[in-house]
Amino acid sequence: MGPDRQLSRDELAAAVRGKAGLLSMLSDPVDSEVLGASPDLKVVANYAVGFNNIDLASATQRGVAVTNTPGVLTETTADLAWALLMSAARRVVESDAFTRAGRFRGWEPMLFLGYDVYGKTLGLVGLGRIGQAVARRAQGFGMRVLYYTTHRRPVEEEKRLGVEFASLDDLLAKSDFVSLHVPLTDSTRHMIGRREMDLMKKTAIIVNTARGPVVDEKALVEALCQGRIAAAGFDVYENEPALAPGLTELPNVTLLPHTGSGTLETRTRMAVMAAQSVVDAIAGKRPEHVVNTEVYR
Ligand code: GLV
Ligand code: GLV
Repeated sequence: MGPDRQLSRDELAAAVRGKAGLLSMLSDPVDSEVLGASPDLKVVANYAVGFNNIDLASATQRGVAVTNTPGVLTETTADLAWALLMSAARRVVESDAFTRAGRFRGWEPMLFLGYDVYGKTLGLVGLGRIGQAVARRAQGFGMRVLYYTTHRRPVEEEKRLGVEFASLDDLLAKSDFVSLHVPLTDSTRHMIGRREMDLMKKTAIIVNTARGPVVDEKALVEALCQGRIAAAGFDVYENEPALAPGLTELPNVTLLPHTGSGTLETRTRMAVMAAQSVVDAIAGKRPEHVVNTEVYR
């Protein structure tokens, strides 16, 4: 077997021909052509919690069940959001490069000054499973946690999580850290663009472990370059695996290659869950995590 690489759409369609199940990666564009490549296709089990790579309407129309892997990667992805937040705040990657390069000449009072995390305000855009897991971790950092979602949570849940509802604009204006936890949909695409970054503090740090296209990446590069926001920690990009021009030249970003759920334990749980979904669907049993439940009505 050669090195891992993404299948092209044509290769994917060719591979699906004659098959009853597809275990897809989030990088696989499962469009109507791929879905139509096999009349026997019963299930597409996405090896991810997000499923924006799949044409859901087309799958539903063809009676193909689409499944994802919720729950098992929640804590792992929340951990990585925190790794990015801490890295960006304390300039971990920059400082590491400096130290490795043999440039550490002794203690200096102004060397790599960063931003405090403890006691600051964290703004969560989206409060699903992962957003909530990030909020729980924030309690240990004595943070005020604001959140924005289209549907405000019940007050008891807000109390339990220690979070306060805010409008998006208000959250952006008040937060020291903004972390994104919304799925990619037509209404979240470019949710954070130039206008939104202009609302943020000059000292604010933005973290994205959700989906790249939620942020206008070109506007992000400009805002970081011009010092309109302080720093960023990103795991996902608008046109993966490509990065917006200029992004890698910026010192104030931590860039990870979409490894949010990347631990041995979690990737194993995701694999078992996705495989079980395929097995169940082919055996005529409804898989546990169906996204388009209409197909079982
Ligand atoms: C990873 O990005 C996932 O959606 O699981
Ligand atoms: C994803 O699992 C989420 O709900 O945040």
